[in-house]
Amino acid sequence: MRERFARAFGGVPHTIWSAPGRVNLIGEHVDYAGGEVLPIAIAARTCVAVGPVAGSYSHVSAGRRRQRGAFDPVRPSRSGSWWDYVAGVSRELAQRGTPVPPLAIAVAGDVPPGAGLSSSAALCVAAAGALSHAAGSRLGAAELADVAHRAEADFVEVPCGIMDQRASALCRAGHALHLQCRDAAVDHVPFLESILIFDTAEPRALRASRYEERRRETDEALVILRSMEPGLEWLADAALELLDRAPLTGVLRARARHVVTETRRVRDAVRALAAGEPLPGALLLESHASLRDDYECSTCALDWFVAEAVRRDGITGARLTGAGWGGCAIATGEREALDSAAPALANEFRQAFGRSARWWLTAAEEGAREEGP
Ligand code: GLA
Repeated sequence: MRERFARAFGGVPHTIWSAPGRVNLIGEHVDYAGGEVLPIAIAARTCVAVGPVAGSYSHVSAGRRRQRGAFDPVRPSRSGSWWDYVAGVSRELAQRGTPVPPLAIAVAGDVPPGAGLSSSAALCVAAAGALSHAAGSRLGAAELADVAHRAEADFVEVPCGIMDQRASALCRAGHALHLQCRDAAVDHVPFLESILIFDTAEPRALRASRYEERRRETDEALVILRSMEPGLEWLADAALELLDRAPLTGVLRARARHVVTETRRVRDAVRALAAGEPLPGALLLESHASLRDDYECSTCALDWFVAEAVRRDGITGARLTGAGWGGCAIATGEREALDSAAPALANEFRQAFGRSARWWLTAAEEGAREEGP
């Protein structure tokens, strides 16, 4: 990063921060409905190095010339480019009373963009660390996550829940992050297993619009359920029996059923891990079936991976992870089994779908940190 910074801007950076991508073990599409989630930080990280710059604009560089840009650090306007995430962090810090000076900002990393591994959360969290540091302010990990989330949600206008930024900022090595999304309370659950991440490399054109549609549907379901039970604050708290007798359409009932049952599965998974048991593969498979049938956010490629992965000896569970409609699936089980199955699965995937999948083995890694000057 230091070399990269010197090549882009000359001189040495004032500070360097890094933040990881994430995979969610279980608890999908419940963060915006008051549910619980259980992500881990992955080995891939994004680094942001910052230093002083002349003039009144901040300058960003991601290595290649065409990835350079500039923005007003206090009142940026949206450009439609990747650095909007960084500009959004700068604006959010200013709005919180920590105006960021104009900076030279170099970005690098190995979180693959567009795969559903939260490359944007990694960028925003690392930027929040580096920019706040340069502005002379020391934020805690939860505040970094808040700043990153507001940058994405308010400035870039991605209607995401709070899971990804919390995971990137707060995860600990060797632990999964048990996050209660209603009040952002967290506990760290020991997790030493390996996870296979398999990217089905689907074009993601539909992802954002479908995500918004699901958010609307869960909001609608909550309004109807509240008309029967006025004290119901979150969809994740609804009783299954209430769903059965409420005047919901079939589609809204299915969406609500996913949210309610998925939150229960997260609690069951946490209980198992806390008791020293492995992550229960059966819960992952139930989660996938619910996402496929009730939430309708799977794809043929994700379904194929889940079915094929669990046919192998030593692989205990698999499911899509992240928003779905393409992107990545995960598989759990013995490390050797995951290691040897991955290339074979990738081969068969190419034959079945005519495109190449990427895969990585990861353990639960550390969240955002300062890497030093
Ligand atoms: C995306 C969003 C998260 C979460 C997941 C689905 O990753 O950014 O907030 O809603 O989808 O669980």
